[in-house]
Amino acid sequence: MKIFSACEAIRDHISQCKSAHESVALVPTMGNLHDGHTSLIELAKTKATKVIVSIFINPTQFNQTSDYERYPRTLNDDLEKIRQLNIDAIFTPELDELYPQGTTHTPRISVPQLAESLEGQFRPGHFDGVCTVVCKLFNIIVPDVAVFGAKDYQQLLIIKRMTQDLNFNIDIICGATQREADGLAMSSRNTHLSHTQRSLAPKLFSALQQTKDQFSSNDIKTLEEKGAAMLEKYGFRVEYFSILDAENLQPITQGTDNAVVLVAAWLGSTRLIDNLLFPMP
Ligand code: PAF
Repeated sequence: MKIFSACEAIRDHISQCKSAHESVALVPTMGNLHDGHTSLIELAKTKATKVIVSIFINPTQFNQTSDYERYPRTLNDDLEKIRQLNIDAIFTPELDELYPQGTTHTPRISVPQLAESLEGQFRPGHFDGVCTVVCKLFNIIVPDVAVFGAKDYQQLLIIKRMTQDLNFNIDIICGATQREADGLAMSSRNTHLSHTQRSLAPKLFSALQQTKDQFSSNDIKTLEEKGAAMLEKYGFRVEYFSILDAENLQPITQGTDNAVVLVAAWLGSTRLIDNLLFPMP
């Protein structure tokens, strides 16, 4: 497995791969890899002959410096995990490699509308940071496919939209959310939970399942309130609990094929998100 930290070096490597008619899949990550990432990497291996994993903790997508600073940095463990997965290469750029003019003066990519609600409302600028860094990675690696997890459902839709609207010739593939045995979606943030918080955290997924099981399109507002109230009862501080059209994150209409229920809630100082997609009954 090759490890690159310079854009120029990975570009050279990719162009050699392409000359040898290899196809390239990119799995962008911020490190602190868990089984959720492993499943994305395994999926990528079925989509292309060469898999590149990027590890870069992107400062422009954190709207609080403290959150950026406390993001777990586990590069050595990550490299060890990836080594076992038999992929082609890792790209771990330094900050000035991706932001040569610094982060304040970099051009930003913004996807209107889709990025404004839900996460966009509670984490202003977050998706501009995500789109900017993903766009950079797409320009450097020029992959044939890129794999993103369904846990960050809004991010997935936004990246699909950006890819289409900025004319990238890249297939965006979605990897299913991986869950612990008790239903909690795998996330790097789970390591911040105390013992008690960890035992409450699976209630997030229970609330989504309850909403799916009780779904009726006449009663959306009540179901949203009920889901949020259940979580508040367990001590979560809910930011949103919303049932929307899974294709565009707009309100459900008669034409909606699939619904998605999305939640963001704090347990102490840890912010968790999750979602569940289901066909309209
Ligand atoms: O989902 C993530 O881990 C990040 O938002 C991503 C896509 C790697 C961009 O930094």
